[in-house]
Amino acid sequence: MAESSLMERIVSLCKRRGFVYPASEIYGGLNGFWDYGPLGVLLKNNIRDWWWRNMVITPPIGPDGHPVDIVGLDSSIIQNPRTWIASGHVGGFSDPMVDDRETKQRYRADHLLVAAARVKRKNGNVEEMGLFAVLSGDDQADVFVKKVDKLARKTGGGEVLPPEGFMPFTALSAEKQQQVVGPDVTTPGTLTEPRDFNLMFPTYVGAIQSEEAKAYLRPETAQGIFLNFKNIIDTTRVKVPFGVAQVGKSFRNEVTPRNFIFRSREFEQMEMEWFCSPDESLKWYEFWRAERMKWWMTLGVPAEKMRIREHDQKELAFYSKATADIEYLYPFTAPDFGELEGIAHRGDYDLTQHQKHSGQKLDYFDQELQVKLKEQGVGAEEIKAKSRYLPNVIEPASGLTRAVLVVLCEAYRHQPGRQGTEEMLSIRPQFAPIKCGVFPLVNKEGMPETAEKLYLDLRQRFTCEYDAKQSIGRRYARMDEIGTPFCITVDGQTVQDQSVTIRERDSMAQQRVALDKVLPYLQEKLGSLGV
Ligand code: GAP
Repeated sequence: MAESSLMERIVSLCKRRGFVYPASEIYGGLNGFWDYGPLGVLLKNNIRDWWWRNMVITPPIGPDGHPVDIVGLDSSIIQNPRTWIASGHVGGFSDPMVDDRETKQRYRADHLLVAAARVKRKNGNVEEMGLFAVLSGDDQADVFVKKVDKLARKTGGGEVLPPEGFMPFTALSAEKQQQVVGPDVTTPGTLTEPRDFNLMFPTYVGAIQSEEAKAYLRPETAQGIFLNFKNIIDTTRVKVPFGVAQVGKSFRNEVTPRNFIFRSREFEQMEMEWFCSPDESLKWYEFWRAERMKWWMTLGVPAEKMRIREHDQKELAFYSKATADIEYLYPFTAPDFGELEGIAHRGDYDLTQHQKHSGQKLDYFDQELQVKLKEQGVGAEEIKAKSRYLPNVIEPASGLTRAVLVVLCEAYRHQPGRQGTEEMLSIRPQFAPIKCGVFPLVNKEGMPETAEKLYLDLRQRFTCEYDAKQSIGRRYARMDEIGTPFCITVDGQTVQDQSVTIRERDSMAQQRVALDKVLPYLQEKLGSLGV
């Protein structure tokens, strides 16, 4: 299946079955915003709870064989606006953009590629047609040739030669930029020079909309953690090294929200800031890099569809010693990979900045290190200098809504000829929104009563749905499409021998199980987590 149509199918199934809807759809929607429907919110919560369990409730065993300590936090979406000055977001959280004065279209400057157009006329002469810009993508050369061809036809036709090479719009001089024909126009000189466009959503706190009242919706959950570093040290028993985890909404006025929920303007993040001593920071960076890769596999993402990409020196933020992205082979990026999670070594940048801007001391006194250094016979001055420091931070930062997308992409199956429905979601049972469907085969002979009783029992333990409408085949098909791993049917035989059929989603195999064994059967299959 072509990858674009695969994505179209996934998006359509998500809408049709109540996973994800375009936000404010009855008003025509709003680009970059999505609503999670009844099944989408269950799926999202299951992934969120699994992350929380693996970070806060039962975090991994550290490299020295001891369990690591991570506590949770739920900080405000709107913080004092000085937060974002200190963090660098007010000054630097921007993408350079190019506007087209004629069409009012806006492009990300790094997406604009330019090549020289050449046409071989019928008399064999090769004619230069000028500089043309297209948007970067797999089909950029085709788009380029088609665009130039349209213009060449108006001036006598000929064969458009393939571009000899594209260069970034940003690499051209201001004078050359004015000679470029933009992606959606036919004459040169309509593109502006690249200008920075801040991605934060401003808002106003209080009744008066003045500059003093201006605040921002947070563009990342991380800063709320740094703001509470001292609170957490002072009020809990954690000691460096330890982590603080947070899940919540973030907002970015993305210039080109695209690829369904991959890049949206409102999304959810799952971030953990790991505070450690500067001396041990690289050890922890390696540790979290490996742990996070393993975690994605527990969601059912196969290793061969993920890769870890280390940022090269040019890509690194000036304060970062190392950063790696965990990437996934999305249908819309294939054969390339796209970002899923970033693991950044942030050094002491954030705590330094907040200490400077707030005037509050954020350093940490490491008593254990002090004792260790004394035992090693280190001199008093050196002990004093070394045991009080600003911790370094290792940050595994992922998108919850991006995780939902990955689980959906991995689970989606199109199986022509499959009984009932050609489409199904093979979601790992632990994350499936509905764990089991309970059906009476027909609505008579005591079947609905038995099925309803079973449903009422099971729903105490699992998310279940009772469905008595339509044919049994249609009910199975619907459950396959929403990824329900088990369906239980009460039929004529139930009345005689107190047994039911349990149908398994992926194999469609059915087996008879005694009514009083249904709960232990499901418990064994589903385990005790994430349900
Ligand atoms: N605190 C660091 C930070 O926010 P980031 O790489 O900008 O780093 C972390 O974001 C993760 O958040 C990304 O790897 C991605 O999964 C998710 N994310 C970022 N922008 C997003 C967007 N516009 N839509 C959906 N998810 C996004």
